[in-house]
Amino acid sequence: MITLGIETSCDETSACILYNSKIASLKTFSQIDLHKMYGGVVPEIASRNHLQKISEVVDLCLMESGFKYSDINLVAYTSEPGLVGGLLTGILFAKGLALSLKIPAINVNHIHAHVFTCGLTDGIFDNFLCLLISGGHTAIYNVKSISNFHIMGKSIDDSIGEVFDKLSKALGFGYPGGPVIEQIAKFGNEDIYKFGIPLSGKDNYNFSLSGIKTEFLKIVQRVCGQNFNGFNYEVIMDELKTVPRGTVLDVANLCASFQKTVVNIIINRLRNTIEAFDCKPKKFVICGGAASNEYIRKHLIKICQKYGMEFYAPEKHLCTDNAAMIANLGERVYVKNCTLIV
Ligand code: KG4
Ligand code: ZN
Repeated sequence: MITLGIETSCDETSACILYNSKIASLKTFSQIDLHKMYGGVVPEIASRNHLQKISEVVDLCLMESGFKYSDINLVAYTSEPGLVGGLLTGILFAKGLALSLKIPAINVNHIHAHVFTCGLTDGIFDNFLCLLISGGHTAIYNVKSISNFHIMGKSIDDSIGEVFDKLSKALGFGYPGGPVIEQIAKFGNEDIYKFGIPLSGKDNYNFSLSGIKTEFLKIVQRVCGQNFNGFNYEVIMDELKTVPRGTVLDVANLCASFQKTVVNIIINRLRNTIEAFDCKPKKFVICGGAASNEYIRKHLIKICQKYGMEFYAPEKHLCTDNAAMIANLGERVYVKNCTLIV
């Protein structure tokens, strides 16, 4: 079985060839540099670049894997959710290609593809608890199988990736914020700024992140002043590396405290969810762009140890958007001929 996956829902033009359900080639053209200066993804720029890059990315994938167009048995493409222009580019390319090759094309929900990424790497498709933390979504899923899973709790406002991005933008570090905040946080004292758990005592399972986002943005304003134009990441990192521990700049304390606050919220919501099970899940999966954060992973591993759950996380390049996860779920759904119960 040779499956071509196509992912164009946001700012990555990605193609993947799966051969016997393993990655034979994965190529991703990231548009980050094109969007960085705007502090987020600009939909019009994104769709134009998907259009320019899609054929090239697929060609590169075929070349690296050593297959030809005529070898492909199935095309899996992201159909939702995402930026409309980018999605349309991928959908039309995938359907046009499938039509010309006389092979099936299968639509894949991008979020569900994140949830099942560990199917590709660890063969986990059934019976697990999943925390999805991406730029667009934050949710806890109870997964029975690829055709039977449901949300146990989700963010009622911002997503976790989004709050990392907003703080980073306010500090002048641009998009995407997660990796930058994670690096700077390593130099900070995480106990300088403290906040409680939003929704605590009112709603045990859902997340609310807009309140802490606002609090941290207010701190940036207070610490950095009204006329603040933003820090330069390279300059700040150089300074942090030379300043002795204990006298670090406040930006590092801010990032570290922010990251700890986010992790406290995740752990609190996760604990409430796990406690709700009579029979505790045996496997736990973390996925989505923010799942590449080492600090978050480290704390979730501890929670898993406490509850006797096996911890799984995709390799970092499979946490952020990629076509391998699309090909993986599309192929599985096609082969099993499933109907979705969500
Ligand atoms: O899953 P993804 O690639 O796209 C969506 O489906 O939304 O996630 C992108 C998000 C961005 O908000 C980015 O800041 C966040 O993932 N992210 C991180 C890290 N790497 C990426 N957040 C926290 N720590 C990281 N190391
Ligand atoms: Zn995603």
